[in-house]
Amino acid sequence: MVNVGVIGCGKIAQVRHLPEYEAHPSVKIVGVCDTEKNRAEEVAEKYHTRVYASYEEMLSDDNIDAVSVCTANYSHCQITLKALEAGKHVLCEKPMAITYEECKKMLETAERTGKFLMIGHNQRLTDTHRKAKELVQKGEIGKIITFKSTFGHAGPENWAVDKNNIWFFDKAAASFGAMADLGVHKTDLIQFLLSEKIKEAFAVTGTLDKKDKQGNSIGVDDNAICIYKLENGIIGNINVSWSYYGEEDNSTILYGTEGCMKIYDNPDYSIVIEKRDGEKIFYIIDRIQTNDQQSNSGLIDCWVSCLEKEVPPEISGEEAFEAMKAVFAALESARTGRRVSVDELEV
Ligand SMILES: NC(=O)c1ccc[n+]([C@@H]2O[C@H](COP(=O)([O-])OP(=O)(O)OC[C@H]3O[C@@H](n4cnc5c(N)ncnc54)[C@H](O)[C@@H]3O)[C@@H](O)[C@H]2O)c1
Repeated sequence: MVNVGVIGCGKIAQVRHLPEYEAHPSVKIVGVCDTEKNRAEEVAEKYHTRVYASYEEMLSDDNIDAVSVCTANYSHCQITLKALEAGKHVLCEKPMAITYEECKKMLETAERTGKFLMIGHNQRLTDTHRKAKELVQKGEIGKIITFKSTFGHAGPENWAVDKNNIWFFDKAAASFGAMADLGVHKTDLIQFLLSEKIKEAFAVTGTLDKKDKQGNSIGVDDNAICIYKLENGIIGNINVSWSYYGEEDNSTILYGTEGCMKIYDNPDYSIVIEKRDGEKIFYIIDRIQTNDQQSNSGLIDCWVSCLEKEVPPEISGEEAFEAMKAVFAALESARTGRRVSVDELEV
């Protein structure tokens, strides 16, 4: 049995971590905490568990093996470090942390304490994305030349538990906008699908639509377009947006020498392969989770499986850092207007 605690009882804890932990036969939810006491109490009642007054109190409980960190971005590093030092394994939500140095510190601390650190990059866990990777590896569309990957929806205000306090729009709490919030998912996914690291980024970000309560533009980007160059020379682009006011777009298209692979691009088919010779192959596998329609993401199953087998997590801190480095390069590019290589960010 794995004894877990959940830090932060907001939306992602409510729609993913808690229900997936509850559904897992080898997990006991030992307790939850949230700075909003009422929210913690409601959640605790639903999951028949206890409330800790603070995450520090939770971390001092020897009965807890692992915690989920489900708080706003700015606090990921601080809470993760304290949890690792307290001897807990940590599943931290994305984005991993808000600076390069913070990410590095998280990795160093996990290594020194001998505790596991996994980051919630759930997109690579869908059966469709796993199948897509297998097809790429089999050479189904030949050698990959380029890609485009999109993640756009109507914005976090439609998702938030507290509609009066959209911390995603607040630079101090979120630190990043759409480029990191959504872009890190697609950045991790591309590196996963193509088994290649990103080498260089050129990005343009903008705050084009979202306003705060006073009617001023929010403090972070709500749209971004990013071109990535991979280490093997592939170039492709990532489009992310908090202002796609139609249906959510979570598609990825890979273009190879023998055809193209359209992933989550067609509502009826998870993957469509269009071969160079005109043949088409259709796969019905699953639908990806959207803000409105959640399903088991596989994140908790993956995490608990690594804890039970005592093997390093599949979505390790190291891999998540690779995605964050590319996002940091994209943000630096957007800030300076030049192409930025991932290596030059190293500190
Ligand atoms: N993997 C995904 O697809 C995905 C989707 C949405 C959000 N997220 C990430 O999950 C994190 C949380 O997002 P959310 O949408 O659930 O936000 P949220 O605001 O709904 O939930 C955050 C909760 O943390 C609580 N909190 C803040 N500081 C705390 C502290 N010190 N101790 C205990 N509780 C504290 C808040 O009161 C709130 O209830 C973010 O980093 C976000 O990027 C990931």
